[in-house]
Amino acid sequence: MDLFLDVSPFWYMFFNVFVVVLSLMFLKLFLRCWILPVRAQKKLGENGFSGPPPSFPLGNLNDMKKLKPALVMEETSKSSTIINHAIHSIALPHFALWQQQYGKVFVYWLGIEPFVYVADPEFLSVMSKGVLGKSWGKPNVFKKDREPMFGTGLLMVEGDDWTRHRHIITPAFGHVNLKAMKSMMVESTNNMLDRWAMQINSGNPEFDMENEIIGTAGEIIAKTSFGVKGENGTQVLKNLRAMQFALFNSNRYVGVPFSNILAFKQNRKASKLGEEIDGLLLSIINERKRSVLEGDDHHDLLGMLLKADKGKFTATELIDECKTFFFAGHETTALALTWTFMLLAMHPEWQETLRDEIRQVIGDSEIEYNKLAGLKKMSWVMNEVLRLYPPAPNTQRQARKDIEVNGRVIPNGTNIWIDVVAMHHDAELWGDDVNKFKPERFDGDLHGGCKNKMGFMPFGFGGRMCIGRNLTTMEYKIVLSLVLSRFEISVSPGYRHSPEYMLSLRPAYGLPLIVRPL
Ligand code: HEM
Ligand SMILES: *[C@@H]1O[C@H](CO)[C@@H](O)[C@H](O)[C@H]1NC(C)=O
Ligand SMILES: *[C@@H]1O[C@H](CO)[C@@H](O)[C@H](O)[C@H]1NC(C)=O
Ligand SMILES: *[C@@H]1O[C@H](CO)[C@@H](O)[C@H](O)[C@H]1NC(C)=O
Repeated sequence: MDLFLDVSPFWYMFFNVFVVVLSLMFLKLFLRCWILPVRAQKKLGENGFSGPPPSFPLGNLNDMKKLKPALVMEETSKSSTIINHAIHSIALPHFALWQQQYGKVFVYWLGIEPFVYVADPEFLSVMSKGVLGKSWGKPNVFKKDREPMFGTGLLMVEGDDWTRHRHIITPAFGHVNLKAMKSMMVESTNNMLDRWAMQINSGNPEFDMENEIIGTAGEIIAKTSFGVKGENGTQVLKNLRAMQFALFNSNRYVGVPFSNILAFKQNRKASKLGEEIDGLLLSIINERKRSVLEGDDHHDLLGMLLKADKGKFTATELIDECKTFFFAGHETTALALTWTFMLLAMHPEWQETLRDEIRQVIGDSEIEYNKLAGLKKMSWVMNEVLRLYPPAPNTQRQARKDIEVNGRVIPNGTNIWIDVVAMHHDAELWGDDVNKFKPERFDGDLHGGCKNKMGFMPFGFGGRMCIGRNLTTMEYKIVLSLVLSRFEISVSPGYRHSPEYMLSLRPAYGLPLIVRPL
């Protein structure tokens, strides 16, 4: 008769346990994917935050994907011949549209993750007043998503760990150390310029400037971060770039439950490359530890960390910091230079102005670190480029406690998305000439005449501001001085203006320029 009960009480038990475990897992999932997000939405609504209605499980991702091609087509058909600096609606069409509907602060959803969108510097300054650098989190979704790139390096680490890391790393970016990096930067740049001269001599004056600069900036950051040159350097550099592309060239659904299963192949490729990179970096670190003991002096960030830290960082932490320097430092700097070349190509009068300044400040002698600060107009140009085309087009946080802003509460756990491009292009903050290239607005004013100091933040804000900004400024000035002293640039007829948001802000079709020797 009752075969099931009779024959195997064991299986019966097993079945029961199985059902209980499954139900618990399901409950947990239900809680995480449904109850908690719905509760978060309700709370945000009660606190006066509205926004585009999300759907399950994609949140507003579908709207973002749909809006993009439609609006971008419309914009690019208008602007492919005229270079238009009003780029917010080209690069971030969904935010431009939602801003019109919901204002400068609203809520949108990446999958089941709520984000408070902020493009109002007043809101931002009130919000950040009560929060210390170490009390801010970085969104858990991004930490997971970008783990092969940044690990728990300075960019992602939180709390007391962040304080400790920042404290150990800060001296590595000090003036004495930066000074020692000068010759590495000059060498890589001159190699690039010699290549240019040869190519021009052979009759081809057109260059994809983005490619050129990214290659050189990658070489510079590899040398200044962990001192790798030659074969191993090329290998690390190649793997690092390949990993970035594996992670970001795929169709990704950040914040959507189980989306990592969809991107399984890419994720596996990225983590395999990640392991390979870790291995290469580890061998570099070990080699370096030996040579430091032998009294060898390496003037790169890794060498300075090893000297400063005296064993306070584990090998894994050192690897993560090296990767962080690379990913946070090379594309951002390269894009700042790339957009500068586009703007200078459009404005030959500024090329002349800068050439005059370079002649006066540096003359015909070798570039000296101490003289770079004297390139004042070049600083204006750099700031104006970072304003119009910020290479880091947004900054994110995650609340680790309830944060009150003007009586409205942002609940613990809510993500915050600060739209830097929007603030940098806001006529209410900058005036009617907001979309004009006018470096002189930074003459004697660090904030370029912006009505709110937090309206200009290419390097982030508060205690977590970019640690590499002096290194970047130095590299920018060295590369630009060397280029402008030898060449004159103009826009190629093949250039199509289409700034694109892909983690950073880059020209979608590259930047072909015509280069002539002076
Ligand atoms: C034009 C070039 C650069 C731009 C636009 C830029 C932008 C930024 C921004 C916006 C942040 C703040 C991120 C946040 O608050 O979430 C940041 C942080 C950071 N940047 Fe940069 N960066 C540049 C160059 C560099 C370079 C050259 C390095 C290193 C070699 C670097 C290393 C870092 C690190 C480690 C952090 C994390 C700091 C912290 O959280 O304490 N950056 N950067
Ligand atoms: C490259 O790294 C390997 C160890 O992984 C080392 O044996 C070799 O000497 C390095 N080559 C160069 C050129 O640094
Ligand atoms: C915020 O939420 C996290 C995770 O839900 C929790 O661990 C933490 O204790 C909360 N913080 C505060 C201050 O309530
Ligand atoms: C950059 O240099 C300036 C002075 O030239 C200094 O005040 C500032 O603290 C430096 N910033 C960093 C992040 O080292």
